Amino acid sequence: MKSISMHSLQLGVCYYPEHWPEELWADDFRRMREMNISVIRVAEFAWAIFEPEEGRYDFSFFLRVLDLAHDHGLKVILGTPTATPPAWLTQRYPEVLNANVEGVLYRHGARRHYNYSSPKYREVCAKIVRKMAEAYRDHPAVIGWQIDNELNCEVNVFYSESDQIAFREWVKSRYETLEQMNKAWGTIFWSQTYTDWEQVRLTQPTVSGSPNPHLALDEKRFISDIAISFAKLQSDIIRELAPHHWITTNGTFGHLDNHQLTEDVLDFFSHDSYPQFSTIFPDTDHNPLMDRGSGMGLSNVRSMSPNFCIMEQQAGPGGWTNRFGMGTPRPGQIRLWSYQSILHGADLLVYFRWRTATFGTEIYWHGINDYHNEPNRRGQEVAQVGEELQRIGALVSGTTYRADVAIMQDYDNSWDGELDEWHGPLHGQSVRSWYKQLQYRHIPVDIITLRQTIALEDLLKYELIIYSHPAIMSDQTALLLAAYAEQGGRLLFGARTGYKNLNGHCYMRPFPGAVAKLCGITIEDYTLIKGTVPPAEIRWIGERSLPAGTRTVGFNEILRPADPQVQIVAEYATEYYAGKPAMTKRPFGQGEVWYYGAAFHEPVVDALIDELGLTSPSADWWDAPPEVEFGVRALDEMKYAFLLNYSERPVNVRFKKAFKELLSGMTLVNEVRMEPYGVFILEQQ
Ligand code: GAL
Repeated sequence: MKSISMHSLQLGVCYYPEHWPEELWADDFRRMREMNISVIRVAEFAWAIFEPEEGRYDFSFFLRVLDLAHDHGLKVILGTPTATPPAWLTQRYPEVLNANVEGVLYRHGARRHYNYSSPKYREVCAKIVRKMAEAYRDHPAVIGWQIDNELNCEVNVFYSESDQIAFREWVKSRYETLEQMNKAWGTIFWSQTYTDWEQVRLTQPTVSGSPNPHLALDEKRFISDIAISFAKLQSDIIRELAPHHWITTNGTFGHLDNHQLTEDVLDFFSHDSYPQFSTIFPDTDHNPLMDRGSGMGLSNVRSMSPNFCIMEQQAGPGGWTNRFGMGTPRPGQIRLWSYQSILHGADLLVYFRWRTATFGTEIYWHGINDYHNEPNRRGQEVAQVGEELQRIGALVSGTTYRADVAIMQDYDNSWDGELDEWHGPLHGQSVRSWYKQLQYRHIPVDIITLRQTIALEDLLKYELIIYSHPAIMSDQTALLLAAYAEQGGRLLFGARTGYKNLNGHCYMRPFPGAVAKLCGITIEDYTLIKGTVPPAEIRWIGERSLPAGTRTVGFNEILRPADPQVQIVAEYATEYYAGKPAMTKRPFGQGEVWYYGAAFHEPVVDALIDELGLTSPSADWWDAPPEVEFGVRALDEMKYAFLLNYSERPVNVRFKKAFKELLSGMTLVNEVRMEPYGVFILEQQ
């Protein structure tokens, strides 16, 4: 897989010289170096400076920035400025603008108001990228490029006329004939049959807001493809002119196959981490643990690039004038979140941003420095991380996160599930519950994506794969999963598995369709849990028990064993299907296949972790409370175990043997207090 390659963990910062008087630059760069910041990212929104009017280019401003950065020993990542087309451009070529589903154009005034399809936009983007690459390719400060900024952020649907035309072409090349397209979209239903390519459009405003679901799925595939081709247009130019620089872009956003993007376009993937966005566990009693959710994003990024760059790491409270208010990180949290990113694989960590803007939409999106530019506690924290990375960075860089358990997902199901309420919402419910309980029990987990290029060996790295609700499942995928189980893998499915083909049509087969044989069951009846239909209670069979009155969530499927080897793990205890199987397990080859007829939630996941006999690799090393995240980065014999305390309270860790802690240099043994938001990195022998 494609990874960033650094000699040492390094810090960077996003810098906007165009927001500040030039007299400040040298002082800024000097102070960055004092904090051990060695990289800046610049220019990703500076098109109006590079090309103030069509065809008149001026690269002198950023040349002065690069020269000065170089004098201070700073390296530079250049962003291509294509997320912010200037006013002259959209005035002269309105076809470059994006439109909402009603066809209303997004106008100049914010950013990301363009589409990827317009030939004119591609032409002017290609020109500015070429000119930039020519201007800066030989500059000694430049190390790499960021394409655009956050592809598909803020808006990830495109309905301009340019998109309609490009979509039509995309559909033609996918289906070749109208007949095949009509079949794939099931258009005979409600007389939607298309008789002319010109009738084909992206989803349009429809009565009840319910477009053709198969078209809606293809729309997302199209958006992903066109975004990737837009990025490739730029990367091809940079590779031609500056082959000695690396190319990345920062994500991770919807309707974009980031894995394909990485394979086709990038040297490695980069991610933006704002942990205060990640309130994925709002139901928890442990509010301070809400920021653990951003670990899910980081775990996903690892599956594209085991070592990656965080292009924007939260360095202060966030907010636009009109949206996204986020409170102030408490003392210690900026450092904690930095190590959260590092644990999960970041080798280059670029903070957003150096100083808080005094004008514009983001005057409340705080950087390391405040408007007043006086020393502050955020700067001290970053400096502390900088100092620590000076000492430990060379040891940890290039090591990668280790997990024996994987949560699997795929793009087709996540895109189909946006519209389809009969499986889509289950995925988020289940993945959050699994991620949360595994985290609390200190069992490291990867998030992986099933794609056509995934090989059996990629799966066999894991002893357990949780693939919670893959409604869309081809027979080919089912064969791959069977081979995984056959060779010793343990596979776990939840409700709504396997009943749709790649177009999103339901199979005319008993559920769970493509994996019915593999699971050794059929589903005799099922219900969405909603409105007048309450969830049933479930009961564990055997020694284990669930908390009394535990009810299923999301969906109930009544399972019927169809193979003599199938064992019943849990059954429903109420409703007309009381006594019928809710969860089954089937030995298969050297492995096992489990099926649960509902969405997963915490009590069920906890019981399953016990039933599966999953334990933390750290169980023999120490006892730590759930508020502490545990994970290991390793390479060959080198292993570094991270303990991160997300709680605002101190916690105690009981070490069962002595460990050297890298940040403090101390040896930890027996009972040790971890400060609120504290970090330990322990060398493993
Ligand atoms: C990111 C974006 C940055 C900045 C930041 C804070 O999504 O890439 O340019 O806008 O959020 O809003």
